[in-house]
Amino acid sequence: MKKLCTCLFVGLLVTLTACSSNSEPQERQSSRSESSDETTESAATPAASSGNAADSSLVVYFSHSGNTQQIAESIAEKTSREVFEITTAESYPEDYDSVVDIAQEERSDQARPELSGELTNLADYDTIYLGYPIWWSDMPMAVYSFLDDYDLSGKRIVPFCTHGGSGLSSTDTAIADEEPDATVLDGLALRDSAIDDSDTDIDDWLANSN
Ligand SMILES: Cc1cc2nc3c(=O)[nH]c(=O)nc-3n(C[C@H](O)[C@H](O)[C@H](O)COP(=O)(O)O)c2cc1C
Repeated sequence: MKKLCTCLFVGLLVTLTACSSNSEPQERQSSRSESSDETTESAATPAASSGNAADSSLVVYFSHSGNTQQIAESIAEKTSREVFEITTAESYPEDYDSVVDIAQEERSDQARPELSGELTNLADYDTIYLGYPIWWSDMPMAVYSFLDDYDLSGKRIVPFCTHGGSGLSSTDTAIADEEPDATVLDGLALRDSAIDDSDTDIDDWLANSN
């Protein structure tokens, strides 16, 4: 009887020890998964702070028929940057021939069309990605209005344009003339007929302009 009791007691001890050694790795496992959560959180912080760095850049654009807008939004999407659209108090007609005539007249008058929106937090940004269509081998006069209205001294300006064949047409030089105390980086020129296939060009250019 005494032997039987001893056997039962030893059996119970073995079972308890086995149970407790099974539970330990589980506890460790759960504490590892906690610490892996912590790792995820601490990995998220640098990502967030690099997001903040991207926030010091702003995408500013003017677009009449949507091509430049499409590129501006693509740049913003790829880089988590904010976007500001240059808009005029008096909107341009949609009709192509009409806008061509108005643009020609504005250019020969060196007009500065009044803008309608206001950019209130320009001081938050170090780099301005500035996009526009080429109009009469130049920037639309509304973009000159923007450069007149806002002082971009000390900032980096990264031009991008869409066009029907003229390329940048020295608009990067024109921007540098308008903003002599800014640094104008290499521009990106995208042909209007190839807008939908411009992803790689944008990626390559962004890699060089960051
Ligand atoms: C008024 C006007 C003038 C233009 N002048 C030129 C030009 O001189 N050279 C050129 O390559 N494309 C010219 N284009 C074509 C536009 O630059 C091109 O289609 C551009 O992608 C339009 O951009 P958006 O859709 O953002 O307005 C002109 C278009 C318009 C409406």
